Amino acid sequence: MMSDAAGQKSRVRQQFNLASADYDSGPGCFAHYGRRLVDAINPSPGTSVLDIACGRGAILFPAAAAVGNEGAVVGIDLADGMIQQTREDARARGIKVRLEVGDAENLNFADESLDYVLCGFGIMFFPNQSRALDEFRRVLKPGGRLGVTTWRVPQIHEVRQVLTELGVNPPPYAPGWITEPAVLSDLLVKCGFHDVQVILDDAEFEYPNAEAYWEHARGTGFRQVMDGLDTDVVRRGKALLRDRFGISRASGMINVTMTALIGLATR
Ligand SMILES: C[S@@+](CC[C@H](N)C(=O)[O-])C[C@H]1O[C@@H](n2cnc3c(N)ncnc32)[C@H](O)[C@@H]1O
Repeated sequence: MMSDAAGQKSRVRQQFNLASADYDSGPGCFAHYGRRLVDAINPSPGTSVLDIACGRGAILFPAAAAVGNEGAVVGIDLADGMIQQTREDARARGIKVRLEVGDAENLNFADESLDYVLCGFGIMFFPNQSRALDEFRRVLKPGGRLGVTTWRVPQIHEVRQVLTELGVNPPPYAPGWITEPAVLSDLLVKCGFHDVQVILDDAEFEYPNAEAYWEHARGTGFRQVMDGLDTDVVRRGKALLRDRFGISRASGMINVTMTALIGLATR
């Protein structure tokens, strides 16, 4: 029988394998925050970066550009579908990165071997966040830098809102969801990191219409929930979205604001 943690990881793997092909389609919200995290950490040329829970490479690709040919970038993810797709993207783009299926809580890397550990929108899915952060700390060189992001307001926020208004209660956010800067900061301090800083970072993304926003919200881990909705709920959900927030009557565009927490720390 599977432990709770193993069961949770198995569900997360399935959830992200399902989303992997269309992941971050549309305006590229994850790609935006991947660039933001890499800019904030600013890895030096020739250094080593481990991107944990790398998904489709939102952090991996800008990190590879930052460290250059003399540097080394490795991405790991629990979902083999993410790893396969990202490996193909890297090959097609001629970008030199290593990709492996792996678990954030059991890193297959030597002690004090890496300059930077980055993890974008991953830690909320780890059953044991302290264990994962202990692993991040173990593999970082002394003085190495950590960068993590979590969602305060995610891309799918407005979809969840309309589903709730329709009386379809979406499943709650993962239990490890961190929305408060102080919670992220305390966690990093508790796990032995120094110089902890958490930045609140808003960004606005534009979608051509409610249908496009709905469709691109399926390019996230929320896809499994959205694909299980009946067609009438989908129709009414899109109609509610059209009537709602930020639609410019002239352009018909929808503007959605997201907010991330960007946590930076030193080992
Ligand atoms: C929301 S996605 C973020 C992907 C990418 N970092 C980005 O910013 O676009 C979360 C990713 O975490 C991965 N993940 C979840 N639990 C994991 C674990 N225990 N170890 C490694 N990856 C994990 C999922 O498979 C998924 O690809």
